[in-house]
Amino acid sequence: MKRVFSGVQPTGNLHLGNYLGAIKNWVAMQREHDCLYCIVDLHAITVAQAPDELTDNTREVTAGLIAAGLDPKTCIIFNQSRVAAHAELAWILNCFTPLGWLNRMTQFKEKAGKQRDKALLGLYAYPVLMAADILLYHATGVPVGEDQKQHLELSRDIAGAFNRAYDVEFFPLPEPMIFGAATRVMSLRDGRRKMSKSDGSDYARINLTDDADTLALKIKRAKTDSEPGLSYDPERRPEAANLLSIYAALAGEPVERVVAEHAGVGFAAFKGRLADLAIETLGPIAQRMRELLADPAYIDGVLADGAERARRIGDANLAEVRRIMGLLDA
Ligand code: TYM
Repeated sequence: MKRVFSGVQPTGNLHLGNYLGAIKNWVAMQREHDCLYCIVDLHAITVAQAPDELTDNTREVTAGLIAAGLDPKTCIIFNQSRVAAHAELAWILNCFTPLGWLNRMTQFKEKAGKQRDKALLGLYAYPVLMAADILLYHATGVPVGEDQKQHLELSRDIAGAFNRAYDVEFFPLPEPMIFGAATRVMSLRDGRRKMSKSDGSDYARINLTDDADTLALKIKRAKTDSEPGLSYDPERRPEAANLLSIYAALAGEPVERVVAEHAGVGFAAFKGRLADLAIETLGPIAQRMRELLADPAYIDGVLADGAERARRIGDANLAEVRRIMGLLDA
């Protein structure tokens, strides 16, 4: 069995991009592989977080993962800061990561903006912590959306740098697993921008907690273009392509089939069908999430159990790292 690791930040609502780009795939592979899914609270604090909100969001994301279909008995679900080895390995890997590699990271450039001098070291080192997350468990499969591809390439480079430094084949090189019809879900207000938690307009994204009326309204208001009918052409018609990809991913069908099935239909009618499908597939997840959140003790129990199981794997690998490096241990 392949070891699989992936993570999600507890920063606000889970949205459709998280679900279709990552979580739906996590659910699909939980029985085929040995899977760890992590709520990455140490990554979240690379931008300011209010303590109460961070706690609430950690529980909410955990509830979202379970509601989406992850079984905490089958896979390991835990929050990152609970397993100290993530931070320790991240420090060690910092010592194998040239600044030049980090300077290439597009997400850092976007998040840091123009005032680079004011950007925090934690934000800069963010991808090294990601590498530590994955390598700590010797995970080789990493199911993510397309936006994480560059970070995963860096993880491979860092693993290689460590192995070369000690002439060992200790860290296996992780591979991104990017699949499904919607590996990059775009904003409903602008088909050239990624759907994200940080978008100022709530109409730009579908949250996993949205109720049926909100879902229908957001889809109805989604941006379209003035061409008649629907066609899949992401370059020329990004909004149409986005809605078709979302439909395909929710229905579990290839985009080509969705296009063929709805070829003669206009945007308005297609949006109606998409809203029905979204309500049918996402409605039960939102409902289950609400039920789970009514029982925070259960959620906390899942995270405590997950952390204990993760620690057992991570601590053994970290002990080996220390031995390879000659760090004296008790
Ligand atoms: P985060 O929390 O931004 O997103 C979680 C997952 O959702 C995917 N995703 C999307 N997929 C398609 N379309 C979108 N619009 C969209 N928005 C988000 C992301 O690709 C991701 O898979 N750095 C990571 C968390 C992380 C991690 C890791 C991932 C920390 N350590 C180790 C893998 C392995 C992040 O910020 O995800």
